[in-house]
Amino acid sequence: EKGGYEHFMLKEIFEQPNAITNAFRGRLLPALEMIKMEGVQNNLSQFLEAKRIIIVACGTSWHAGLVAEYIIEELTRIPVEVEYASEFKYRNPIITPKDVVIAISQSGETADTLAAIKLAKEQGALVYGVCNVVGSSIARETHAGAYTHAGPEIGVASTKAFTTQITILTLVALHLAKEKGSLTKTEFNELVHELERIPEKVVEVLQVSDAIKEIAQSYAHATNCLFLGRGVNFPVALEGALKLKEISYIHAEGYPAAEMKHGPIALIDENMPVIVIAINKGHYEKTVSNIQEIKSRKGKIIAIVTKGDVVVKEMADHVIEVPETLEWLTPLLTTIPLQLLSYHMAVLLGKNVDQPRNLAKSVTVE
Ligand code: F6R
Repeated sequence: EKGGYEHFMLKEIFEQPNAITNAFRGRLLPALEMIKMEGVQNNLSQFLEAKRIIIVACGTSWHAGLVAEYIIEELTRIPVEVEYASEFKYRNPIITPKDVVIAISQSGETADTLAAIKLAKEQGALVYGVCNVVGSSIARETHAGAYTHAGPEIGVASTKAFTTQITILTLVALHLAKEKGSLTKTEFNELVHELERIPEKVVEVLQVSDAIKEIAQSYAHATNCLFLGRGVNFPVALEGALKLKEISYIHAEGYPAAEMKHGPIALIDENMPVIVIAINKGHYEKTVSNIQEIKSRKGKIIAIVTKGDVVVKEMADHVIEVPETLEWLTPLLTTIPLQLLSYHMAVLLGKNVDQPRNLAKSVTVE
């Protein structure tokens, strides 16, 4: 049932081109220049008149929410807040019927997220769910929503659920942008066509798996790792760090690259691997100077770069290339090497990749 793969996690990482295609099938309609999301369409006025969108989720799903915050705000100009479901529930949050709450959950059974949904409903907000498991509690509790259609995710570390959640939320953003007129026709069509090309670009990224395995060999002894990214790739850095922590038990932290100088730079020495998302979008030059700062403190640099990059290649100890795409779609590509890196590290260390200690696939206690 692992389809020839050694672990479910690896199988699920490699399923992502199909999973993303399944997530947008019937919804992404480039020829018609439109997006078809029933749950959005049926509640259109509430979405378009929303004062703000509040996203609630936990763990990896929360990271997908953070990625969506950048995308939804940029494409629709609707303010977005992202909260840990557990914090939202217990801090007496301000919610009104003018808010739209989006709950993201792979399992659809996360107790904290479910509790946040119930509270939002009591306060009169429209609650839209993004779930993978069909018929799950969260899918049933929400007013409307979209399934990710990623297929069963068995590995405890979430992979294809994350990229399909981002796909769905990008579709929601595009749908709203079209209705709102917040994008030009050209911008809209460019995004729609490029999203359609993402699965084949993911196929291309997956080919670096063996090269990443080699890189992992040089760092499997590390006790700490730093993950850096800017803009829409900052949450990808957080997700990269979470994956490494979960399955390899190596301590890792994700940071916005520019925040490094406000503290974490003190950690950098020749024993500190730093994984930097340094693609040619979103303040590339600034990221390059962040890399310079790490290099001058002898940190080891593993950089995720755009195919054909020459500047970062000169500075980094290792580079992993991803194909070029539009800025708002880059997380769907930059995430993949980070998943593979944590996977190969954990395997090299002999850890139980699919069932890491102390973790469960769905967390049904608050
Ligand atoms: C990370 C992971 C967890 C879950 C979190 C939320 O790999 O699996 O952090 O993302 O427990 O779970 P769902 O999405 O099922 O609500």
